[in-house]
Amino acid sequence: MGKILITGATGNLGSRTLELLLKKVPSNQVAVLVRDPESEKMARFVKEGVEVHQGDYFDYNSLFRAFNGVEKVMLISAPAFTDRNTQHFNVIAAAKQAGVKQVIFTSILRRENSNLIVPEVSISNVFAEQTLKASGLAYTILRNPPYLEVMHSYFGDALKVGVRVPEGSGKVAAASLNDLATANVAVLTQNGHENKTYHLSGSEGCSFADIAEALSEISEKDIPYEAIGEKEYIDTMVANGLPVFMTSFLLGWVRGINTGEFSETSGDLERLIGRKPMTYKEFFKTKYPFSKVED
Ligand SMILES: NC(=O)c1ccc[n+]([C@@H]2O[C@H](COP(=O)([O-])OP(=O)(O)OC[C@H]3O[C@@H](n4cnc5c(N)ncnc54)[C@H](OP(=O)(O)O)[C@@H]3O)[C@@H](O)[C@H]2O)c1
Repeated sequence: MGKILITGATGNLGSRTLELLLKKVPSNQVAVLVRDPESEKMARFVKEGVEVHQGDYFDYNSLFRAFNGVEKVMLISAPAFTDRNTQHFNVIAAAKQAGVKQVIFTSILRRENSNLIVPEVSISNVFAEQTLKASGLAYTILRNPPYLEVMHSYFGDALKVGVRVPEGSGKVAAASLNDLATANVAVLTQNGHENKTYHLSGSEGCSFADIAEALSEISEKDIPYEAIGEKEYIDTMVANGLPVFMTSFLLGWVRGINTGEFSETSGDLERLIGRKPMTYKEFFKTKYPFSKVED
């Protein structure tokens, strides 16, 4: 197997992918691209022998240098509220020029032919998918659903105020970072995933009302679901200290969930990881020990 390089290796998804990859592949076959090689997050990986390249998605030459001799690049998508088109384009073009064979890109799940736009996310992901497909590189597109780890940000402190979001009965098949990272490693270490697009949804969808019910069960408290208007949603979040641009961003995801944009349960994630993905109830049980919260 040739060398594998992971971008975004200091982040949530990239670092978990790196940890899991090192259980399968000798460290001298693994490289990372990070903006700050001195970052504390990198120290233990450096000790393990991972090759660390300083680079930035905006700096084409740094990417080209880092990709020299690499067979597969795992491109963790760039953060929202940045020029994602330039960054993803640079990575794909530099990979092509450096002779990389395959680029694996973490995109966003959506319904086929969907018109829904999640601001800051969906249009740039479509652009990256199309750029990658047109590049002539072997590609694997891993369309990620919302992470289970971010679900609480759509409604805030449910224990205090319930699950209060704009109305909708759509479901979201969210998945855990650990399961998504496991799928990344499967694609990085196995053959046969070239020129494929996978929909990495969890195995079970939930609506916001389902979440309120699950949280009530786990906490043994009454956590109500309440449908509110979009203006009230924004005003409440802003009153809780979130900047307006962030509340609009969250609203984009909530609209997507409510209209079933992320509801598909394709089975791709389960097939790639070889077991049932963590469900939302399992996740909330593990992460939120509501039983310990004082009245
Ligand atoms: N599906 C979802 O629910 C969901 C949720 C959140 C994010 N996302 C998307 O998935 C990606 C990974 O999520 P995450 O939670 O792992 O995000 P994260 O923890 O914020 O990690 C982002 C990574 O990208 C790196 N990065 C940022 N700008 C860069 C640049 N210009 N050049 C090179 N590297 C750069 C960061 O490096 P530094 O350490 O140097 O900052 C970090 O390693 C996000 O970037 C976002 O596109 C999806």
